[in-house]
Amino acid sequence: MNQRWHYDEMKQVGTDYADAKEVEAYDARMRKIRDIRSETEKILDSLHITKDRTLLEIGCGTGEFTIAAAGRCKNIIAADVSLPMLEFARQKAKKKNVKNIEFHNAGFLTYEHSGEPVDAVVSQLALHHLPDFWKLIALRRICALLKQGGRFYLKDTVYTFDINNYEDFFNRFIEFFRETAGNEMAVDAETAVREEYSTLGWIMEGLLERAGFNIDKKEYFEGFMAVYECTKC
Ligand SMILES: C[S@@+](CC[C@H](N)C(=O)[O-])C[C@H]1O[C@@H](n2cnc3c(N)ncnc32)[C@H](O)[C@@H]1O
Repeated sequence: MNQRWHYDEMKQVGTDYADAKEVEAYDARMRKIRDIRSETEKILDSLHITKDRTLLEIGCGTGEFTIAAAGRCKNIIAADVSLPMLEFARQKAKKKNVKNIEFHNAGFLTYEHSGEPVDAVVSQLALHHLPDFWKLIALRRICALLKQGGRFYLKDTVYTFDINNYEDFFNRFIEFFRETAGNEMAVDAETAVREEYSTLGWIMEGLLERAGFNIDKKEYFEGFMAVYECTKC
């Protein structure tokens, strides 16, 4: 990892999650627009998580999923490249007296797993921070640290809209966020389109398969969001 050509995932791309104020604002915004508890239950059901299972979340952000999931598994490893995000999540877990979480300041390309392979990996809204080549490396690393038959849940911004109308799509996409979640969210969405690396559905499917996953289920929403439930082949 000391190679000068290696992608530096610690460098913030797009929205600056190394800014403590942004982290707090992100947490508040997400609580407003998402029903994290029911999202978490559905994800854990799809991963067949039971009390004896070990889970890894990459890009854990403010810890909403990790903390909610901790009660349903043996232990959970939560990794994120942003120290303020991790600190926020750590404090939240402490307040809730949740003790079976191991926090790591690392990401898709830098988290080094030790010990037994994990039963399942979850990542939500984080992989688009890597360019496509590095997404493939990230997915291969995830596959390598899973048990045979282990499960991977990936939710991310992935484009499936009609490319002939991309300008119109992005304008409507930004306005949708402004109307439903306010100006800050619209600015985030503009930044994401301009500076982050959301890829196309057919590319993401190819990346997952080439990394060693079978895609058991895929769902695309609103032309910009995707969920993949995968098994290590
Ligand atoms: C949009 S937030 C999503 C947070 C959380 N998963 C959620 O669903 O609310 C993106 C998160 O990905 C993290 N991130 C960015 N690049 C990453 C990388 N290469 N590896 C791991 N996490 C990364 C950011 O620090 C941030 O916490």
